[in-house]
Amino acid sequence: MNAHTPAPPAPEGLEGVVAARTVLSEVDGQAGRLIIRGRSLDDLIGQTRFEDLVSLLFEGFYEDLPADLTAALGVARSEVFAEVRHLDTDLAAQAPVEAVRALMARLADGDDLPTALRLIAAPAVFTPAVIRVQAGQAPIPPDPASPHAVDILRMLTGTPPSQTQAAGLDAYLVTVADHGLNASTFAARVVASTRAGLTSAVLAGLSALKGPLHGGAPGPVIEMLDGIGQPENARAWIEGALARGERLMGFGHRIYRVRDPRADALKGPVRALAASAGVRPGRVAFAEAVEAAALDILRTHKPDRPLDTNVEFYTALLLEALDFPPKAFTCVFAMGRVAGWLAHAREQLATGRLVRPQSVYVGPEPRQGS
Ligand code: ACO
Repeated sequence: MNAHTPAPPAPEGLEGVVAARTVLSEVDGQAGRLIIRGRSLDDLIGQTRFEDLVSLLFEGFYEDLPADLTAALGVARSEVFAEVRHLDTDLAAQAPVEAVRALMARLADGDDLPTALRLIAAPAVFTPAVIRVQAGQAPIPPDPASPHAVDILRMLTGTPPSQTQAAGLDAYLVTVADHGLNASTFAARVVASTRAGLTSAVLAGLSALKGPLHGGAPGPVIEMLDGIGQPENARAWIEGALARGERLMGFGHRIYRVRDPRADALKGPVRALAASAGVRPGRVAFAEAVEAAALDILRTHKPDRPLDTNVEFYTALLLEALDFPPKAFTCVFAMGRVAGWLAHAREQLATGRLVRPQSVYVGPEPRQGS
C-alpha cells in the first residue's frame, strides 16, 4: 500500500469499528450484559440514585468531585432555571427536544465541574418547564434540597411524587445513563476532541439522540400501542407495518443480538408503577401481548437477523406511567444520557487526540484542462 492507497473503508455505519478505549461502560451484545464502571446494571438498578451514578461515572475526571452530588446538583438546577424565562411562545411551539436544546444552547461552554453539573441539571429543569408551558401552565422552580428524580417529577406535576414514582424515574435515569459508543455518545466525543467545550459536546449528543433510530423511538412505541388498541389486533397491525417496509420501534439493536438487558431492568419499575394508583389497568399486560406478537413475527420476517426488544419499548411504558407526554420522551432520555456524554467527553479530552477519520473519494475526477 503506497501513500496514495487509502486503507479499505470501514463498513457503512462503522459497524464493528473500535473508535475509543473507555473505562465507563461495556455493552456485551452476545451475552446481553451492560457493565458500568465495574458494576452490572442488575446491581445498580434499585440500589443507586441517579446522582450517585453520576459520581460513579465522573470518578477520576474531576479532582473537586464531592462525595455526594445531591446538593451541588440542586444548586445547578436552581442556576439553570434562570434560562426558563427565555422560553417564549416561538420556542414553546417547537418539539420539546428542540425547545430544550435551544435553552441548553444558552449555557456557556467550559470543561469544569460546575459546567458539567449545569448540563446535567439543564434537561431535568427545562423538560418539565417546556411540557408545562406547552400545556398552558406556569413552570415550577426547582427545590435545590430535593433529590434529583424527586425534583424532576415535582417540577412536572406540581406535587411531590410517591416513592414508587421517584424510584421508577431513578431506575430509568440509571438504566440509560451510559451505553458504550452509541451514536450520541460518539457525536459528543468527536466534538469534545476538538476542545470545543462540554456544552458543545452535549448539544451534539442531544442532536444525535433525537433521531427515531436512536432516542426518538419511545414516543412512536406509544403510537404503535395506541394504533393497535386491542391485543387481538396486534398481529395484523404489525404485519401491515412490516409489509409497508416500516421498522417496529422498540425492537432491534446494533450491538445486542439477544434481548437488551435494559428492557428487563425497566420491567420491575414498570410493574411497580402499574400496581400503584392512577395507572391504566391492563396496560402492561397489553404491551406484553404486543411484544410477544412482534417478536414472533420478527423471527419470521428476518430469520437471519436476531431482532429482540430494546430499551425503548419499556421506556415508553415507564415514562407514560410517570405522566410524561410521549412527545417529550426523548428529553427524559437526555436527562439520564447527559451523564454518559459528559463522562465520555472528559475521557476523550484526557486522550488529547482529535478524532479525525478519513473518507474514500468515489466522485468524478476533475475534467482535463478545466
Ligand atoms: N423492525 C423491523 N425490521 C428491523 C428492525 C425493526 N425494529 N430493526 C432492524 N430491522 C431489519 C432492517 O430493516 C434490516 O433489514 P434489511 O437487511 O432487509 O434492510 C435488518 O433488520 C438489519 O437491520 P440493520 O439496519 O442492519 O440494523 P442496525 O444495526 O442498523 O439497526 C436499529 C439498529 C437502528 C436500532 C434498528 O434495529 C431499528 O431501526 N430499530 C427500531 C428503532 C428503535 O427501536 N431504536 C432504538 C434503539 S435503542 C437506542 O438507541 C437507545
